[in-house]
Amino acid sequence: MIKISKATRKDDLNKEWKEFSHLKYGQGANWIEKIYRFKAVEDGKILGTIEGKYEPGVIYISALMVTENARGKGIGRMLIEKTEKWGKTLGAHRTWLSTGANWSNRSFYEKLGFKVIANFSDFYFHKDFVIYSRLIK
Ligand SMILES: CC(C)(COP(=O)(O)OP(=O)(O)OC[C@H]1O[C@@H](n2cnc3c(N)ncnc32)[C@H](O)[C@@H]1OP(=O)(O)O)[C@@H](O)C(=O)NCCC(=O)NCCS
Repeated sequence: MIKISKATRKDDLNKEWKEFSHLKYGQGANWIEKIYRFKAVEDGKILGTIEGKYEPGVIYISALMVTENARGKGIGRMLIEKTEKWGKTLGAHRTWLSTGANWSNRSFYEKLGFKVIANFSDFYFHKDFVIYSRLIK
């Protein structure tokens, strides 16, 4: 009888995944993921954080937050730039993220040159979301 149960990272089909990667992305292609987290600090106080994941060629931003009274000073921009600089050393060429379709922070991403590449309706908490992306300079 086939049973489905919880698995850990150790319970992986490494050989199959390696062959699949070579078939889909070319010989030698190796799927690597790295979690990142950066912070902006002034006088020992955390003013902002960014986190997410690097996947081959692509940086995903899962969370970006600047503390309310430190907004508008360029910290959000600096956190994204730091993340992209780090990602570039791994070979990233693109950054992406999702944000609420009706959220005011969309102007921030658009100011930074992010473009909408997809619309997700009825998503987190049944709200509409947009996917933004930009090329890394
Ligand atoms: C969105 C957020 C990260 C922006 O961080 P920030 O440090 O205030 O942004 P910056 O100061 O780096 O702004 C960069 C540019 O975007 C503009 N900008 C920032 N927020 C903006 C907004 N809400 N509306 C319009 N423009 C905005 C700035 O004026 C600045 O423009 P400039 O380069 O012409 O001066 C911050 O407002 C925040 O943490 N918001 C709450 C959490 C959130 O929405 N996180 C993102 C979830 S997807």
